[in-house]
Amino acid sequence: MAVGALCLMNSFRGVRSASRLQITWLCEHTRSHSITSGIPGVKERTLVAVKPDGVQRRLIGQIIKRFEQRGFRLVGLKMLQASEELLAQHYSSLHRKPFYPSLLRYMTSGPVVAMVWEGHNVVKSTRMLLGNTNPAEASPGTIRGDFSIHISRNIVHASDSTEVAQKEISLWFQRSELIDWECCDHGNIYHP
Ligand code: TYD
Repeated sequence: MAVGALCLMNSFRGVRSASRLQITWLCEHTRSHSITSGIPGVKERTLVAVKPDGVQRRLIGQIIKRFEQRGFRLVGLKMLQASEELLAQHYSSLHRKPFYPSLLRYMTSGPVVAMVWEGHNVVKSTRMLLGNTNPAEASPGTIRGDFSIHISRNIVHASDSTEVAQKEISLWFQRSELIDWECCDHGNIYHP
């Protein structure tokens, strides 16, 4: 049984025998060996952005819910009106595409909610959660497959590789806007 679970169970059963020192050790041990810390790549991060149509259709909560229920950790979040300058850098690989001008008009048509999510294999898993770029080809159950019908209004963006994710995160977020945090399933319960 995980040390964290044992620690919690003992607490709820009202175990009297363990000394405060022993409980403190368990909790500190749990903190440094939290549920994800032993998994390689757990610090992987990706940029996700709810595009203007997603915001306008009140889909922010439903999108966040999918990442939370999957078990990823939100480490950065902000709403912003993206500038053309930011988007030109973000979509620099697409600027010769015929759809680029309309893409920029769409992306500047209203606020965007930018997020950084963290966890094991988060880049690849996020792309799967989103579904195909073209919603017509996105599977039901994916965000694009459930909420959109046209490639020019596909609700959400996510980085497509770990290298791109690092570039996009530093483009959209300052370091100080990203927060490392741990689960609160220890500490307060044992030190009231
Ligand atoms: P792209 O980076 O190819 O896809 P993804 O967002 O899945 O990484 O394209 C960026 C965005 O450009 C895409 O989300 C929607 C838009 N787009 C169009 O409007 N028309 C198109 O034909 C393509 C390929 C993309």
